[in-house]
Amino acid sequence: MKVASIVGARPQFIKAAPLDRELRQLCTHVLIHTGQHYDYSMSAVFFEELHIPEPDHNLEVGSASHGQQTGEMLIRIEETLQRERPDCVVVYGDTNSTVAGALAAAKLHLPVAHVEAGLRSFDRSMPEEINRVLTDHLADVLFCPTETARSNLSHEGIAQSVFNFGDVMYDAVVQSLDVLRSPSGLLSSLDVEPGSYLLVTVHRPANTDHDENLLSILDALGETGEEIIFPAHPRTAQALARLGRETPSNVRVLEPVSYVNMLKLEKEARLILTDSGGMQKEAYFLGVPCVTLREETEWVETVEAGWNILVGAGKDRILQAVRGFQPHGDRPGVFGDGRASEKIARQLQLAYA
Ligand code: UD1
Ligand code: UDP
Repeated sequence: MKVASIVGARPQFIKAAPLDRELRQLCTHVLIHTGQHYDYSMSAVFFEELHIPEPDHNLEVGSASHGQQTGEMLIRIEETLQRERPDCVVVYGDTNSTVAGALAAAKLHLPVAHVEAGLRSFDRSMPEEINRVLTDHLADVLFCPTETARSNLSHEGIAQSVFNFGDVMYDAVVQSLDVLRSPSGLLSSLDVEPGSYLLVTVHRPANTDHDENLLSILDALGETGEEIIFPAHPRTAQALARLGRETPSNVRVLEPVSYVNMLKLEKEARLILTDSGGMQKEAYFLGVPCVTLREETEWVETVEAGWNILVGAGKDRILQAVRGFQPHGDRPGVFGDGRASEKIARQLQLAYA
């Protein structure tokens, strides 16, 4: 069996890492990197740290508008798949690389497997929501990370070949637990004490591309008066530069950090404020309270369990949550048992070997 995985953006390298390890034990695994993310800190660092082999193909598509980027990916992925002729194509999550990979494969009549299928925000103004819906409707086999995701698919009439084996990002965290026990060089170089700081990331267009939202978030961060560590996505760094306003003195803006460094920063944070999907889950896995800078989430289980609160970008609601949000209760294990990738690899072998 030959399986081709299509990745391109930061969270996809993290999602593909545990599945890559499983697939390589069972079959030939071809890695196709679209080049959507290309800075060392957004791409290569994850391959090195997570021991993912160099991509077999780097399509070097780079940044562009949605149509241009997705179109260029479609052309280059199609050429690559025609040469490779895999037995099945795996796509991950909800980026432009995901939908381009699924569409190129489906048009070549290659079976498409979607890892992290069935998530919905029910907000079509998010580019990711469009990518998810299309990818799920193109996919032949759908791997849901939660029961909510499975039920979302069922409401759209997708019930065949749908599996909930758990979340591959939970696998990735479980596999990193050992390394998380070692002291963090980054924390000591930042000279911050565990439990004494807030960790912030922001990269959703709804927050970065609307100055009023970004300004309101920055004002809230400043008014907390707490020590804040803020690894900034390149989109966000550009938006901050465009604003041309000094960041509050309690906010330390960093370059993007590696996966292990991010997990360490998350684990020791007093609180995480984010609009990232992956980080809402990691906060939950690691037992750190999460304040989500959005009005809705795909990861509703984290909110229902009382460990995540949705506050949007309004200053007052952010401040209220930073000062008063107290998680309560257990964190039910709704994301699987840490062996999702093993089960996904086996299912692909059953279906396509
Ligand atoms: C993309 C995904 C988003 C995901 C995020 C993960 C889409 C539509 N969006 O958003 O779902 O949550 O990745 O991080 O696919 N840039 C660099 N260096 C890089 C990559 C990007 O400077 O290595 C800059 C470019 O100016 C680019 C901008 O960041 O225009 C945005 O990058 P892009 O990949 O278009 O979208 P993301 O915001 O990263
Ligand atoms: N991440 C990282 N370094 C950073 C920011 C995020 O390693 O500087 C990791 C984070 O721990 C999570 C993933 O990237 O595993 C989330 O990606 P991102 O927030 O870019 O996208 P999303 O999950 O929102 O699609």
